Parts: sequence; C-alpha cells; structure tokens
Amino acid sequence: MTALTLSTAGAATLRADALVVGVAKGAKGPVVAPGAEPVDAAFDGKLAAVLDALGASGADGEVTKLAAPAGLKVPVVIAVGLGDAPEDDASYDEEILRKAAGSAARALHGAKKAGFALPVEDASAVTAIVEGALLGAYAFTAYQGGEKKDGKNGKQPLAEIALLGAKPRDKEHKAAAERAKIVAAEVNIARDLVNTPPNDLNPEAFAAVAQATAKELGIKVQVLDDKALLKGGYGGIMGVGRGSEAPPRLVKLAYTHPKAEKHLAFVGKGITYDSGGISLKPAGHNETMKCDMAGAAAVFSAVVAAARLGLEVNVTGWLALAENMPSGSATRPGDVLRMYSGKTVEVLNTDAEGRLVLADALTKASEENPDAIVDVATLTGAMVFALGNRTFGVMANDDAFRTSLHEIAEEVGEASWPMPLPADMRKGMDSSTADIANMGERMGGGLVAGLFLKEFVGEGITWAHLDIAGPAFHEGAPYGYTPKGGTGSAVRTLVRLAERTASGDLG
Ligand code: BES
Ligand code: MN
Ligand code: ZN
Repeated sequence: MTALTLSTAGAATLRADALVVGVAKGAKGPVVAPGAEPVDAAFDGKLAAVLDALGASGADGEVTKLAAPAGLKVPVVIAVGLGDAPEDDASYDEEILRKAAGSAARALHGAKKAGFALPVEDASAVTAIVEGALLGAYAFTAYQGGEKKDGKNGKQPLAEIALLGAKPRDKEHKAAAERAKIVAAEVNIARDLVNTPPNDLNPEAFAAVAQATAKELGIKVQVLDDKALLKGGYGGIMGVGRGSEAPPRLVKLAYTHPKAEKHLAFVGKGITYDSGGISLKPAGHNETMKCDMAGAAAVFSAVVAAARLGLEVNVTGWLALAENMPSGSATRPGDVLRMYSGKTVEVLNTDAEGRLVLADALTKASEENPDAIVDVATLTGAMVFALGNRTFGVMANDDAFRTSLHEIAEEVGEASWPMPLPADMRKGMDSSTADIANMGERMGGGLVAGLFLKEFVGEGITWAHLDIAGPAFHEGAPYGYTPKGGTGSAVRTLVRLAERTASGDLG
C-alpha cells in the first residue's frame, strides 16, 4: 500500500521521482493551477506555454510528462488535466481533483516517490486528492511474478506520496487525510477481494478473511456454515450453494458504538463465482463472474471502515456467500425452495441466484429491526443495459431514502441513478406452484429483481437496493482512479451513509 504524508516541503526543494501539478483549460489555452507556482517559476513562468506547445489543453484525464528544468529536485514533472478552469474564486470540483490525482498516481506505477502539488483549497480538497491518489496507485499484483509473488511482471503501486500544499498541523486537513486514507484502503481491499480468482476466494475463504479482520478490529463476527444454514432453514442460500463443492456461508459482522443512536444493516450479494448453475451461462458471459461477490466485498469494507473511523452508529454487515455451480446436486429449474422467511420460491432460472441468497439475508437482517437496510449486489445484466458500465441503480421502498442514497453517492463521486419499483410488475413473478417465481417479465429485469427483494424486507423497515452490476468490474482501459478489474463500487457511498447517519443529518 502506498504511503502518504502531508508535507511542508516546497515543490522546488522536494527530492522525488516526479512532481505532479494541475493544468486547467483556460479561455486562451492551458493555465497552471494553484499549487504549481514554484514549478512554474522553475520553468521561468513558461509552464503553460510549454504545455500548450506540447499540445496539452488541460482536459479532464489528460496526463503530460515533461523533463524537469534545473532548479527542481526531481527529474520529471507530470501535468494532469483539471478540465475547465473554475470561474473567479470558485474552487476545483472534488471529483475532478480525485480523478486527476488518480490519473497521476497511475502514471507513476513502478516509481518510488512523488510530490503532488495540486490545488488544495480546503479540507475537502485534501480528502479528494488523498482518495484519488491512493485509489489510482492501486495495482493487483498478487498473482504476478511467479513463486516470489514479487509482481515483477506487473508494476507495483507508487510507493510514497508527499502531498504538498495541505497544512499538516491544521486539524481539519489532518482529519480529512486520515479519513481519506482509511476509506481508500478499504475500497482497495474490496477491489482485492473482487480480483482474487474464484478458485482461491470461495465462500469459506471469504468468511475466513472476514473473521480475521473482524477479530483484529473488535468487530463481532458470526459465521453460519452449510450445516447451520440447512438446520436454520435458509433455503435460498442453500439452494444456490448446493451445486458447489465449496459450501455456502452467511457471515454477520456487527460493529457497535456505545453512543450510537441508529442502526444500519448492509447486505451484500456474495456469489464467489456465478456460472449460472444448471441454467449455465454461455462462454463470453462467465469469464468475469468472479466479480459476483462485489456487493459482499463492498459491505465488508464499509463495515470495517465504519469501525476504523469509530463512527457513532451501529452497522451490521451481512455477507450472503455461495458459489453458483452446475452439478448433480445443484438446484434445477423447476425446483421449489422454502426460504428462511417461510415463503416458497419456484426457481425458473438458476442464473437468477443473487436474489435468492439476498432474500434470506434480508429476512435475517430484518429480524434486528434496523433503522434502515441497504443491500448491494451485482444483480442483473438488465441494469447494465439500462445505465451502462459506470452507473449503479438505486431502488427503494421509500422515495426519500432513495433520493438520499443517490445524493450521497454523488457527494462521494460515485455515479448512480434512481430507478422505480413498479407494483404492476409483481404479477410477472406469479407462480402456479409456489408463492413467487425467481423470474418475471424480461423487460425491466433490474426492476423485477428489485421487486423480488422487496418481498423479503421486514414490514415497515426502510430499505434500498443498489444494483452495481455495471460499475463493480471495469473491463475497459483504466481512467482517473478506476483500474481494470474490481473497482470497489459502493464502498464510499455506504461509508458516507454511515457517517451521515452517525451525525444525524439524514432524515
Ligand atoms: N450475476 C449476474 C448479473 C450480472 C451480469 C452481473 C453482468 C455483472 C455483470 C446475475 O446473477 C444474473 O445472471 N442475472 C440474470 C438474471 C436473469 C436470469 C433473470 C441476468 O441479468 O441475465
Ligand atoms: Mn446469475
Ligand atoms: Zn449472479
């Protein structure tokens, strides 16, 4: 993990492999952003002109590497685009800073030390730059470099970042940096879990990771194994997991604070591999299905972050872990499962498995009567069709709560969009054999899945559902602070929800 310190060093005197500065789009070409003055001085005040000559415009996402002039103690200057220069005295948008810091950190993979001299107007800029830098520096190298696992085939994260321009003795700046470090570290842990191949991260292995971390942090942890799940009547989780040699688990993580007034429950879909089961996915649709536990990874990381931040709120995480495999013991299309709630479900398609494991976990989470439940799941391909690869869908049984989650996501730089749960679509799941089927109308499949889940939420409990099937796993070229592979989607939203609940500024 990359080390980051708030440094009082000047940009001109810092010894490092590179200095990062910001460049924005001005009316008449690129303009150098605040924080870069000493660097500009070393260029005789011509940094903007040099960038212009190199074809740099200051566009969002642009990275330009320059040889450093004499006068700086670094060999390289990296100019990152900040988009349109803010008008008058306005400060830079947090997400712009987060992305720019991320792009710079990515450009520095393999390097030892860099100074970041980006515009630091206030504590929220510190948060954005620290998060962006640490998220952008991320690399998953555990399986590279042969036996030594030294990652030599891949580039290691930038080892050390000195953030210039922040005030290390300012309480707010310090707190912002410490918080951002914890949040970024937990997002990166969620990414690691998603990226770990499914032959190594099965339900048992995931539960063991949760157990070890919880012990370390004093989070209460309880693991129901397949025996306990069978005995307890968890027909949804068992029905999905029974086809696999690696049996399912339900993990409960309970973080409590003595002064907490509110209780949140987070529920995560944790399909460690989704082959589709007997309704097997065709080739081309299963290569990335190790990502199907991204919801559980987000929930795990969010509970851990809440504990490490010491938030004054109780947060319970539920990880519904199973591997969806075809075999002689697998659930068949046509089978009826008796769920933990007592309801019966006719399984028409074993590839609609996420809703089955989540249903049991939602019923279980409801027993504690939390103030709100949020589930996170890579639930439907339909949501990817609807919103694309970078935006998650937010559904809820409460309009105000759905709006809050959408706004919170926006605040932390996660793209989301509110989606409806149209009551008329429930009848598509009517079953002639059971209380409900696990499939409904083909159109609007993401909403159908949401409506299914809604039936398993306890009476009167505020609930929201985040379908992160699009943004959880990034297959394209890296951009900003987003790497290829696991993204850690929804961690920052859940953490911010916990923070707002703790401080009482949420409904
Ligand atoms: N895990 C998939 C959804 C998914 C798709 C996640 C693409 C990430 C990327 C889920 O279990 C699934 O297979 N859903 C089916 C449901 C259908 C059978 C009703 C789908 O979306 O096709
Ligand atoms: Mn599936
Ligand atoms: Zn799935």
